[in-house]
Amino acid sequence: MSVCNFTRSGLRSATRAARMELKAPARSMSLLSQRTPRSAAPQRRAAPAAVRSMQTLDFAGSPEKVYERVDWPLEKLQDYFKNDTFALLGYGSQGHGQGLNLRDNGMNVIVGVRKDGESWRQAVGDGWVPGKNLFTVEEAATKGTILMNLLSDAAQTATWPELKKYVTKGKTLYFSHGFSIVYKDQTNVIPPSDVDVILCAPKGSGRTVRTLFKEGRGINSSVAVFQDVSGQALERAIAMGIAIGSGYLYETTFQKEVYSDLYGERGCLMGGIQGMFKAQYDVLRANGHSPSEAFNETCEEALESLYPLVAQNGMDYMYKACSTTARRGALDWAPEFEKACRPVFERLYKSVKDGEETRRALGFGNRPTYREDYDKETDAIADQEMWRVGHVVRSLRPHRSQE
Ligand SMILES: NC(=O)c1ccc[n+]([C@@H]2O[C@H](COP(=O)([O-])OP(=O)(O)OC[C@H]3O[C@@H](n4cnc5c(N)ncnc54)[C@H](OP(=O)(O)O)[C@@H]3O)[C@@H](O)[C@H]2O)c1
Repeated sequence: MSVCNFTRSGLRSATRAARMELKAPARSMSLLSQRTPRSAAPQRRAAPAAVRSMQTLDFAGSPEKVYERVDWPLEKLQDYFKNDTFALLGYGSQGHGQGLNLRDNGMNVIVGVRKDGESWRQAVGDGWVPGKNLFTVEEAATKGTILMNLLSDAAQTATWPELKKYVTKGKTLYFSHGFSIVYKDQTNVIPPSDVDVILCAPKGSGRTVRTLFKEGRGINSSVAVFQDVSGQALERAIAMGIAIGSGYLYETTFQKEVYSDLYGERGCLMGGIQGMFKAQYDVLRANGHSPSEAFNETCEEALESLYPLVAQNGMDYMYKACSTTARRGALDWAPEFEKACRPVFERLYKSVKDGEETRRALGFGNRPTYREDYDKETDAIADQEMWRVGHVVRSLRPHRSQE
């Protein structure tokens, strides 16, 4: 299928409409009400290309609050957290991204991981110094005022009986997922009643959290409050969201965050996409198409050409940017796929809601061999013909050969 040139006029109107403020937002929180004039905002280390304020946006008829980083210039952020020690417990994908961003933003941050484990090694590689800002989980939890539980979700369950001793009055308990709190019947993670419990969940991998920050951009994240003892929990969650490198934040609840997150990653974000790609590729191969043709018509064109158009301007734009032949077929077949997929998505949502997904995740994640076991399964994907072909196709991309 070929992609032709297409004029963009008129296609940005929906975006513009969504950005119109419904009304001036009520600002009840102390720091949010002291808005810094744009001109006076100190420059960040990596200044964003465009900054915007907190506002209520019209999401296709539903008003929702969005918090943006213009309200949190770096100086104000540093002042706000000047008496805090961020204890980053865990140094996986999120620990790495959030930790390095916090450090670059001038926050007082320490890392807590298993001594001499893989994460310890990686943290040392990233410049964290044992005894100075790299400790065991227990030591870091003792020193921190904000305990950022970024251990794997399974490890959060396994370590809670020990960790909860350090979650003492006045501290803030922070998560990047609603998992441990919402599925407390499985995890037994029940925080004491005298601490704020907040969440900031970046909508992407920790690697992206880091990359976008370094580019002066910022990932979108959701924020939520589970327990507000200080009366400042939402404000702290928003400030933390900005401090870890978010560009803007949506408000949600722990439950909504975890349901939508587990559902999304099993569906269109990861599981669904692998399943769709594989099914399409296999049918092409069964009908005599070469591996390169099957891969190009399934994955390469999607990822390199069409999905970026959807990302920039929406599905309608991508449809219009393609040939009329392609458009006819896509318009006709989209409802077929929707009909076929809908029952799978219904089953998936139910499985998330009734706790089956978390049971499986905990069962696997708590195995002592969890890394090797997961590697075996992802290695099996790498070994599928489709992705072995992908390896060759990617090496042909002109910009690759210039690297
Ligand atoms: N990754 C994402 O894209 C993403 C996005 C948004 C939110 N989140 C959430 O962010 C949190 C962290 O996820 P992640 O992907 O960054 O990390 P992860 O890869 O799931 O977890 C890795 C960390 O957990 C530690 N760990 C595992 N088992 C342990 C145990 N029994 N005792 C002590 N430490 C243990 C590992 O240390 P060792 O190296 O020593 O094993 C490592 O530091 C989760 O709540 C996740 O749901 C993740």
